[in-house]
Parts: sequence; structure tokens; C-alpha cells
Amino acid sequence: MNKKIKISIVALMGFLVITSCGKKEANPADQSTEINETTSESEGQEAAVSNVLVIEGNDQMQFSTNELKAVAGKPITLTLKHVGKIPKEAMGHNLVILQEGTDEAAFAAKAITAKETDYIPASEKSSIVAHTKLIGGGEEDTIEFTIDKKGTYNFLCTFPGHVAMMKGVLIVE
Ligand code: CU
Repeated sequence: MNKKIKISIVALMGFLVITSCGKKEANPADQSTEINETTSESEGQEAAVSNVLVIEGNDQMQFSTNELKAVAGKPITLTLKHVGKIPKEAMGHNLVILQEGTDEAAFAAKAITAKETDYIPASEKSSIVAHTKLIGGGEEDTIEFTIDKKGTYNFLCTFPGHVAMMKGVLIVE
């Protein structure tokens, strides 16, 4: 009987420890339960910011991420890897980073007419921060560039039809 009560008190204390985690209440407790709060919060909260960026494109017309992050004012190395098998004539990918404020849809529309320059429209060069070359399955391309101005820059693949699926943002902090 006595043992049973003890167990339920222990269970209750355990419950109190769990429920009161975070907000320490001034308990009107005579049998005063010492609650040691050793909570370790703030773990893995921040997304990694690195100026060495790797992104993949596949045969399903997808980038491996739609968000990249980098630091302003320092050289950024970006590698685009085509992890598929289809040649670039049918499933080519590139990664084009646009200046802030660029009309992405209008840019993409111009780009698909620029087949002879791998879908990089010469007339729109001023809207481009940086771009990889067009690659097919198994290929990769690495580019280096620096962005001085913090901001959010759209990127896309300009191969015809791909922008619907293959786009994202590069956040420069
Ligand atoms: Cu593509």
C-alpha cells in the first residue's frame, strides 16, 4: 500500500518535471520538488551558410534544392551536377542567377529562343548575375562569382519548359 503511494508520487513528480519544462512556477510546495532545468534548446536551428554551393539536376527535371544561401562580398563557388543520364539535347540543365527585380517569366521566354547560345539570351546579359553552362546527364560545371549586395536572387534553368519545375532562390546574407 505504502509502496504504491510512493510510486504514484514519483510518477506525479515525473509528470511535473515534464509539464513544467520551460516555465518555472513558484510552487507552493512544502515537499518542494527541486526541478533542475537543463534544457538544451537552440540546436540545429540555423541553416548552413556556405559559399561553396553544390546543387544537382536530374532526369525528372528537378533541382535538388530550391534554396541556396551564401555570404555577401566573398567569392561563391557553385557546382551544378547533372545526376541523370539523358543528354543535354533532351534534358539539358543550367543554372542562371538573375539580378533582383528581373521578370523571371519574361526572361525565361526570351531564353528559350536562344538555342544557339545554350539558352542564354545575349540581349538579357545585364539581368544575369552568373550562370553555368548547359550540361547533360553525368556532367557538371563549376562557376565562381561574388555578390556584394545582400538580397534574394532568383535562379532558374532556362532549358525550354524547365523553369516551371526548376527554379529557386539564392539568399545572400
Ligand atoms: Cu533543366
